[in-house]
Amino acid sequence: MKRREFLLGSGAAAGVLGLSGFGLAAGTQELVIQPASFALRDQVTDGMVSLSPGAPPPVLYGRQGEVMRLSVRNTLTDYTAMHWHGLRIANEMDGVPYLTQMPMGQNEVFQYEFTPPDAGTYWYHPHCMTMEQMAHGLTGVMVIAEPEDPGFDSEQVINLRDFRLDDDGAFLPAYTQRGAARAGTFGNVHTANWLQQPVYDHAAGGLVRLRVVNTDTTRIYKLHLEGAEARIIAWDGHPADVEIPLPSADTPLLVGSGQRVDFAVAMPEGEGQTVALMAKLPGQPPRAMARLHAVGATVARNLRDLKPLAANPVAKPDLANAELHEFVFGWTPEGGVPNNGFCGSLGYNFWSINRKPWPGDAAQGAGPLATLELGKTYVLRLRNESPNLHPIHLHGLAFVPLKSNQRQLPPQMTDTMLLLKDEVVEIALVADNPGDWAFHCHVIEHQKTGLTGFIRVV
Ligand code: C2O
Ligand code: CU
Ligand code: CU
Repeated sequence: MKRREFLLGSGAAAGVLGLSGFGLAAGTQELVIQPASFALRDQVTDGMVSLSPGAPPPVLYGRQGEVMRLSVRNTLTDYTAMHWHGLRIANEMDGVPYLTQMPMGQNEVFQYEFTPPDAGTYWYHPHCMTMEQMAHGLTGVMVIAEPEDPGFDSEQVINLRDFRLDDDGAFLPAYTQRGAARAGTFGNVHTANWLQQPVYDHAAGGLVRLRVVNTDTTRIYKLHLEGAEARIIAWDGHPADVEIPLPSADTPLLVGSGQRVDFAVAMPEGEGQTVALMAKLPGQPPRAMARLHAVGATVARNLRDLKPLAANPVAKPDLANAELHEFVFGWTPEGGVPNNGFCGSLGYNFWSINRKPWPGDAAQGAGPLATLELGKTYVLRLRNESPNLHPIHLHGLAFVPLKSNQRQLPPQMTDTMLLLKDEVVEIALVADNPGDWAFHCHVIEHQKTGLTGFIRVV
């Protein structure tokens, strides 16, 4: 079995380079996927995966409209491929094995080069051996800055995720059959930037842009802030153009795997006071995931000092001329084993899209779920036929929720729609980015057991 035999042949460029002899273009950042060790609790946990031997994957910074060059080298014996979640970039840079590139073997390098069209909070993770590498740490945040300084005094990135460890700090299996068939398998060590309840200093009375990213393989966080005046200024990367109510302990914000929320936080004026990012975990009182600690004399800023962020250049759907496509997410009637080539299989199928379990990272012969015409508007009706929640993610395109059979949804641009139990949501998009775009649940156990496919834009 050769990697090339799996290739769909569409746009998949031969972007994997051997190690030798290739010079790097100016401004290239080198990312080396490698084993790591880190004290997630009291003891050091070995067998982690990161981009350096003893630290979490770094925040990658880019600027809206400016080219980024990321040279990714795989030093693991397992295959991999890197995906840039939420970035509407060229298909051949999207990092989906077999669909847009070949999996990268040991010591292979892939030069990713793209220009983010949108500012905001995004993230990166592997899309091959996804379960293993993400569960062991390989999830990082990407910040794409606005061309104009939005006027904060400081910024704080929080990468929320769990790890599944035993009492000695060693990894437990990342997934279970029971979990994969239900809500997923949950971690037991809850971290922010790989730390438990870290505290970060920020100027008293200052305005902090708090970027919260859920990079967990499973958990849907229920979040709220305590101790500060705040406002939600962006959701899944895109500036809030409608008011999103600030969550509270009673009505926390649901942030599914893959989703992001940006808060503008007015730090307390008193030195030593703290703001807490709180999460409600099942069966426990809300706990602080991270804290912001006010330092120094107050700089006395006010949330009203902030201008709204400029909208990203996402095309507005032309609903009058939209075509409807339906997608049903549910159990699979077929069972069987997904075919993931070199990219890892959990060994069973539980889930389906339109009643067919999709073969993981698009193997040969698996067609698109839908083919959309470049430039046209589409309404996608997403039906959750299961009692479990599914954060449904579409690569390469942004979309806007139109309506739900259960709740009022703000018409807020996104790349990931959290479907509640038995919920039916209609979303709209303009198919303005050509290519084969992965479309899947971001609970990785669901993604890897049938709930994944792709949408073709031509
Ligand atoms: Cu966050 Cu298909 O990815
Ligand atoms: Cu993505
Ligand atoms: Cu799911």
